[in-house]
Amino acid sequence: MAAQERLICLSGDLIDGGEGVRFTVCQETVDQPAFAVRFHGRVVAYLNRCAHVPIEIDWQPGQFFDDSKLYLICATHGALYSPADGRCLGGRCQGKGLTPLPVEERGGVVYFTPSEWKP
Ligand code: FES
Repeated sequence: MAAQERLICLSGDLIDGGEGVRFTVCQETVDQPAFAVRFHGRVVAYLNRCAHVPIEIDWQPGQFFDDSKLYLICATHGALYSPADGRCLGGRCQGKGLTPLPVEERGGVVYFTPSEWKP
């Protein structure tokens, strides 16, 4: 049976380049921290795990963007990631990106769609 989609938040909770919404996903029976943000109008989501050291990247809960609002930044050593696809853009991520998660936005609601995810 396919895993059921899960509500993450309402569309209005995610402002372009603004605060993200934290949630968890189950990976190999363990809950993993994840987050969703809106960038250039589109909702994207990733595991909240830096590619340098596997720790959460937000500098305060829900704060994932740098000052420019163009990059996701790891609070620990400053690795920069593309909000659009999670790829490493500089710093200690050394070419490794964030792990993207499938999300769908419809009817004013954002859902995590685990059936499209191959962890
Ligand atoms: S832990 Fe994220 S850059 Fe080092």
